[in-house]
Amino acid sequence: MISKRVMGLLRSKASYPLARRYDIKSPEIINLASNESPYGPSPRVIKALKREVERIGLYPDPRATELKKEIANYAGVKVGCIAVGNGSDELMELASRAFLDPGDGWLIPLPTFAMYELVCRGNGGKPKFFKLPNLEWRPEYLRRALGEARLAFLGRPNNPTGNGISADGLKDLLRSGKLIIVDEAYVEFARNSVTKLVPRFENLIVLRTFSKAFGLAGLRVGYAVGNPRLIKVLESIRAPFNVNRMAQAAAITALRDRSYLCKVVDAIRKEREYLRGELSKLGLRVLPSDANFLMVNVGILRTNAPKLCDYLARKGILIRDLSNFKGAGSGWVRISVGKPEQNRKLLKVIKRFKGGV
Ligand SMILES: Cc1ncc(COP(=O)(O)O)c(C=O)c1O
Repeated sequence: MISKRVMGLLRSKASYPLARRYDIKSPEIINLASNESPYGPSPRVIKALKREVERIGLYPDPRATELKKEIANYAGVKVGCIAVGNGSDELMELASRAFLDPGDGWLIPLPTFAMYELVCRGNGGKPKFFKLPNLEWRPEYLRRALGEARLAFLGRPNNPTGNGISADGLKDLLRSGKLIIVDEAYVEFARNSVTKLVPRFENLIVLRTFSKAFGLAGLRVGYAVGNPRLIKVLESIRAPFNVNRMAQAAAITALRDRSYLCKVVDAIRKEREYLRGELSKLGLRVLPSDANFLMVNVGILRTNAPKLCDYLARKGILIRDLSNFKGAGSGWVRISVGKPEQNRKLLKVIKRFKGGV
């Protein structure tokens, strides 16, 4: 009864590495494990949602006209270059359905976001994993690794490394003519988008989301930016009401409150550098990051990621154990940048752990 494509996915045992559940009831819990914004959405978004709730008996705009207009203005592209999705996760699924035939190879550098493998396998594709040497993006190696693959999926900045391929390296890959999907979920924290390359390269699709810098993870809104020919395909196969009424209203308002976005991004970028500096002073290896999280090696603490994460969880702080991320390993954790007081508490507890080892 089950299709071959889905059987392939089930047999691979690939799954989304869910954060471990800790049965901690404290309202004081500090969650630095999910890369959400500690500031949540703009207060104007909350007001817009309260107004919109009166209209939830009505279907949302299936064309998402207003939302696309705001996104186009924000991303600096034409409305025809935008497709909208129920989170960028849905656009990954739609893109693989639209552009991948069963058996096609899909370049996935590791470690990275698990959804790339899941949507590839779920649509009959064959992931071609490429372990980033020393966790660095070396375009010449990636060009070689692209080889016979039909397309590539690149996080920029990449989750969990926080770094990504250079713009020149990306252009080099794009010249291969293969479809390159660049996931810019965290681009607001990096300020180095490649959407400006869309008019030059028909084979580039950039995915973005409202889940991170805009603080709307619970509402599920994402979008793709690309050549209108490709975008039309994504728009044709998506369900007409995939982005619900509340989500559209929230995303439109979030885009209109740029000063809130700037404040959030400035605060997180500043704290990211502070946290990186302090963790480095403790002797930990911290990768430079353009995103709102840091990938940190905990070996110097003479422990491993699961043990450190358990210790912190017992003290009310959740960070991400990367031992179940393909290509990372048990020495690594990922820490989302929190509010200043949250980051300071984290540092205090890590110092206590270090002292006690
Ligand atoms: C690299 C990356 N892309 C996409 C997403 C998911 O985005 P969305 O919430 O829009 O589905 C995440 C979420 O953690 C992510 O880390």
